[in-house]
Amino acid sequence: MEMKFEARSDLKEKPQGALGFGKYYTDYMAVVDYDEDQGGFHDARIVPFGPIELNPASMVLHYAQETFEGLKAYKTKDGRILLFRPEKNAARFANSNDRLSMPKVSEEMFIGAIEELVKLEKDWIPTGEGESLYIRPYMFATEAQVGVHPAKSYKFMVICSPVGAYYPEGVAPVKIWVEDEYVRAAPGGTGFTKCGGNYAGSLKAQEKAEAHGYTQVLWLDGVNRKYVEEVGSMNVMFVIDNKIYTAPIEGTVLPGVTRDSILHILKDWGYEIHEEHLAIEDLMQAAREGRLQEAFGTGTAAVVSPVGELCYKGEKAVINNFETGPLTQKVYDTLTGIQWGDLEDKYGWTREVK
Ligand code: COI
Repeated sequence: MEMKFEARSDLKEKPQGALGFGKYYTDYMAVVDYDEDQGGFHDARIVPFGPIELNPASMVLHYAQETFEGLKAYKTKDGRILLFRPEKNAARFANSNDRLSMPKVSEEMFIGAIEELVKLEKDWIPTGEGESLYIRPYMFATEAQVGVHPAKSYKFMVICSPVGAYYPEGVAPVKIWVEDEYVRAAPGGTGFTKCGGNYAGSLKAQEKAEAHGYTQVLWLDGVNRKYVEEVGSMNVMFVIDNKIYTAPIEGTVLPGVTRDSILHILKDWGYEIHEEHLAIEDLMQAAREGRLQEAFGTGTAAVVSPVGELCYKGEKAVINNFETGPLTQKVYDTLTGIQWGDLEDKYGWTREVK
């Protein structure tokens, strides 16, 4: 895909010190317009990062036709730039768009726009411990129409942010609130997509969790509020009796790229994997009996994030003495070792940006 380039004269200062997550943005962004009456996608360009103009009637502002992705660019010790399984993000983005009646972005256009932008912004890829360039592709309805129907015009955009750890705790155990009132997704809904609406509906529970001193919410299934699904910004895995439990991908849980990669790694290490509905009562019982050995979240932003405590209906379960467990640490080291190019990529997951 040919992308026009508009240079800026005033390059920004790179941030110093702790990056946090999503606080800084790079100099440029990628934009591609879509108009049904112009034959689809057109005017692919890289322009200075900055405000965009939107008609107040743009449909995204009223009916939330919006989807997004998250992936990272890593700089290796010998200066190469790696992406991690971007074709998985491209495929999920296409599935999200399909579910929201939005035009699909081809893998070629999705990865092409990302690679162009990352090449240009390579000096923004931070190289401190655990740091990377977070890439946020997204698309939204721009048609000015307050009648409800799938829009006829959209913008596909990519922005980048140099990041460190997602959670204020850094790579350290987080406290998770098991939500038994609000739900995130129901069968037939949009739970498997990355659409902004899923996150908007989750914030109330997130606020509740934070008010109780917890970092994130663990969602239960939307029908019975019984089975464990996922955490606000990551999938979640439990180690019980040396076996791995995680929710199956059946439409309500996000099919995480990190989740899939870690399940591959764990299978290779000989672990028995149970992708099945785990009742919260059984999980709490395993914790009471000392059989819940470790728990960790998995996600692009969160990477591998140990869970140190669960709180369900007032009962607290502290996991592994609120310390990062040995398997969690090994999974973290292996995954990040592949992502940052320090370990052999025997799965062929990394893609060099040249
Ligand atoms: C990611 O892990 O990339 C996410 O999109 C999760 C969150 C920041 C919304």
